[in-house]
Amino acid sequence: MKLMNYKTVFFKYLIVAILSCISMANYAQYNTKYGDEKYEPRLGQSGKDVIWLPTNTDLVTQMLRTAKVSANDIVYDLGAGDGKIAIAAAKDFGAKAFGVEFNPEMASLAQRNADRAGVGERVKIINGDIFKEDFSSATVLTLYLLPELNLQLKPIILNMKPGTRVVSNSFHMGDWEPDVEIGNPTRAYYWVVPAKISGTWGVYGVHPTQKATLQLVQYQQRVGGTLTFDEKIYPIMKPSLEGEKFKFSFQDKDQIIHDVELNMTGDTASGFDRFDYKTSKLVGKKEK
Ligand SMILES: C[S@@+](CC[C@H](N)C(=O)[O-])C[C@H]1O[C@@H](n2cnc3c(N)ncnc32)[C@H](O)[C@@H]1O
Repeated sequence: MKLMNYKTVFFKYLIVAILSCISMANYAQYNTKYGDEKYEPRLGQSGKDVIWLPTNTDLVTQMLRTAKVSANDIVYDLGAGDGKIAIAAAKDFGAKAFGVEFNPEMASLAQRNADRAGVGERVKIINGDIFKEDFSSATVLTLYLLPELNLQLKPIILNMKPGTRVVSNSFHMGDWEPDVEIGNPTRAYYWVVPAKISGTWGVYGVHPTQKATLQLVQYQQRVGGTLTFDEKIYPIMKPSLEGEKFKFSFQDKDQIIHDVELNMTGDTASGFDRFDYKTSKLVGKKEK
């Protein structure tokens, strides 16, 4: 009985300690100054389509790392807030970064934050509406919006250049399944814009003399289909599409597994068929 009391008291203290830590963290967050002498935004203040809340700094790093952001990238943060994602993309990953922010005071603050961080040359905050600005030059898009805003952006994003990487803090993209999920406790989701490869392709190199026909059906990055040559139809196995990179396997009539890798650019395809310690070069063209 005495032991029980010690245990109860211990757990009571433990719970009080945990709650104190949580409230201290919240207090710290809500008392952090995000602005400067010209403008002081409030956490949760309203925005045109969504309130302002900054992405947690660790998650910003994880999001940009997952998207493999580098100096070759043009990153657009849609709904840029105080600019922290665009600034991190430029400062920590060497990218050129843009932020689109509707609130003019917030946009100016974000640009001043970029200047203060020493990356004003590589970060441009555009005071505009994410539904009106042209972000088609982005190689990486970051979002912390709302599910319905992601859904409105989805058709625009799916029409961007294949290979464009997209990372969204907290919110999905409807039935477009993410390729990767990251973050704990707050989750973020990662997609790569898939090339449009549905249709019939003629491929040379699978068979020594004949053209093979690759027939593909696609929904977003999910692909299925068949490869036909020598009057035989082979189902494609383990298909994967990442941007323009399309990989699949098939088993030929002698039970040999072929691993095919094709780069699908517009209506041309090129790559390799690796099988039985051999490699055959492939070239293809979309026929319909
Ligand atoms: C949740 S905050 C995210 C801020 C920043 N991306 C981050 O993750 O730290 C969303 C931001 O989008 C802005 N916003 C809301 N609707 C917008 C719109 N239609 N166009 C541009 N910015 C918008 C808000 O003012 C707010 O700063």
